[in-house]
Amino acid sequence: MRLTARLMKVFVTRRIPPEGQALLAQAGISNVEQWESDEPISREDLLKGVFGAQGILCLLSDKIDKKVLDTAGSNLKVISTLSVGVDHLALDEIKKRGIRVGYTPDVLTDATAELAVALLLTTSRRLPEGIEEVKNGGWTSWKPLWLCGHQLLNSTVGIIGLGRIVPLDQLAAQSDFVVVACALTPETKLMCNKNFFQKMKKTAVFVNISRGDVVNQEDLYQALANDQIAAAGLDVTTPEPLPTNHPLLSLKNCVILPHIGSATYGTRNIMSVLAVKNLLAGLKGEPMPNEFKL
Ligand code: GLV
Repeated sequence: MRLTARLMKVFVTRRIPPEGQALLAQAGISNVEQWESDEPISREDLLKGVFGAQGILCLLSDKIDKKVLDTAGSNLKVISTLSVGVDHLALDEIKKRGIRVGYTPDVLTDATAELAVALLLTTSRRLPEGIEEVKNGGWTSWKPLWLCGHQLLNSTVGIIGLGRIVPLDQLAAQSDFVVVACALTPETKLMCNKNFFQKMKKTAVFVNISRGDVVNQEDLYQALANDQIAAAGLDVTTPEPLPTNHPLLSLKNCVILPHIGSATYGTRNIMSVLAVKNLLAGLKGEPMPNEFKL
């Protein structure tokens, strides 16, 4: 079946990186509607946009819930998300309706791993504090113990979401660095809580590159404020964006980034191409390069 063979509407919830955008333009879809902005679409415009669509290409900031699915209607065949995470999609409802889901795993692993290392070093070597001292005149002299941190060399890095499964308490107790890289599911929601932080070493650094909801942020705040753990680096928070007056932002030993794990030009372009290929395969009823199996 050629995509132009019959009237077909696709809704794209944001401007996407150029390579994906170009592929979409060449695909011959009769009606592509797109939210032509780098800023998120409002709920109202999302509902208007998806009406009658056969395909939706969305981002992790778009909540695709029952209301959106009902509004799209029974023609909807495929939802392609420009993300590896699928926690913004009402998967049960999507499955019930027989809609297929495409996502973008693997292609962002390297970029995200690089950011995890950047956060590990930034937090453990206290870079933001150092940068600030240079700017505010706090740098008066070289001092033997000033701005000392913890070293990566010979340390144990425990990664939640990779490799061998070990009990969480054990991972917390044995690691010098804990990196959260697992998917957000009902099982992992708020998994890093008071009990978890109490098990961690006082010298340990906590890094989250997964989803904010894996962490109980109030418990993390207490652990950092009371020096129960040394530092934290977060690329993800709840909510996103984090309000600028959030207590975590008042702590010197907490570094927060605005969810940029996969943000390299190359990776985002590859993700956009993959998302468009998943969308097109879903519309044609063909195997997708990366289908999220429901
Ligand atoms: C990033 O967080 C993603 O899910 O792609």
